[in-house]
Amino acid sequence: MTDIPAYDAFAPFYDAVNGEPVERIRQILALITHYRPDATSVLELGCGTGAVLAGLGSGFRLAGIDQSAGMLAVAERRLPGASLHLGDITNFALAETFDVVICVFDTLNHVITLDGWRAVFARAAQHLVDGGLLVFDCNTVGRLEELGSMAPWVHDFDGHTLIMSVNFDQPPLAFFDLRIFESLGGGTFREHQEVIVEQAVELLTVRELLDSDFELLELCDDDGQRATDTSARAIVSARRRPRSVVEKP
Ligand SMILES: C[S@@+](CC[C@H](N)C(=O)[O-])C[C@H]1O[C@@H](n2cnc3c(N)ncnc32)[C@H](O)[C@@H]1O
Repeated sequence: MTDIPAYDAFAPFYDAVNGEPVERIRQILALITHYRPDATSVLELGCGTGAVLAGLGSGFRLAGIDQSAGMLAVAERRLPGASLHLGDITNFALAETFDVVICVFDTLNHVITLDGWRAVFARAAQHLVDGGLLVFDCNTVGRLEELGSMAPWVHDFDGHTLIMSVNFDQPPLAFFDLRIFESLGGGTFREHQEVIVEQAVELLTVRELLDSDFELLELCDDDGQRATDTSARAIVSARRRPRSVVEKP
């Protein structure tokens, strides 16, 4: 069994397990087209293996940040033209701003304090142009409760097996136990384990945390309906408020 930082053990298998994020990319492109059609640059917080950035196409200047060197190594192979950074989404500073910042596939839930969420929103605001678009999604409280009550998920892929079980006995934290049994051939396997922790945050709190720097544009579920704390997922679009202008005397 390996003992390396979160997502580094998972990185070589991540794309095969999750497949192409076609629907996620479609949703993001639709929101950009609707709210920021003139956008030419996108920064992804928690870009992982770069599958989402790659799917947005070559019409954007692309950048990403992730704290897993293993995930970022896959992204670097996939996106040679993008600017990719190893770092923490709660505490980073790049020397450029963007028209759009995205943070998707539950990445925000991985930040396990409310101060951390506040810091992510502040970093996003710092890296957005005035009027820039923030798009993020999160697992709702209801979804993490549901996952915590389900039997382990067993998934076979490329001859390997993933077993994932979720424990939500200590809300607001959900513990995802992931075990990958990598087939080495001849009936032998190497086991990789990750424990990924996600925080459940009520949508009212999400709105309050956003309010200082962002105007909420929409808060939807996967079907485009208004998201609630029992929706499977909440997808949030928000516009960066203009920076205050210091008036000349
Ligand atoms: C579920 S994956 C999503 C990856 C990608 N956004 C996608 O849609 O496929 C979550 C990613 O967030 C990264 N991550 C989690 N917490 C982070 C943090 N505080 N700073 C930087 N990256 C973080 C993980 O390393 C992982 O690559």
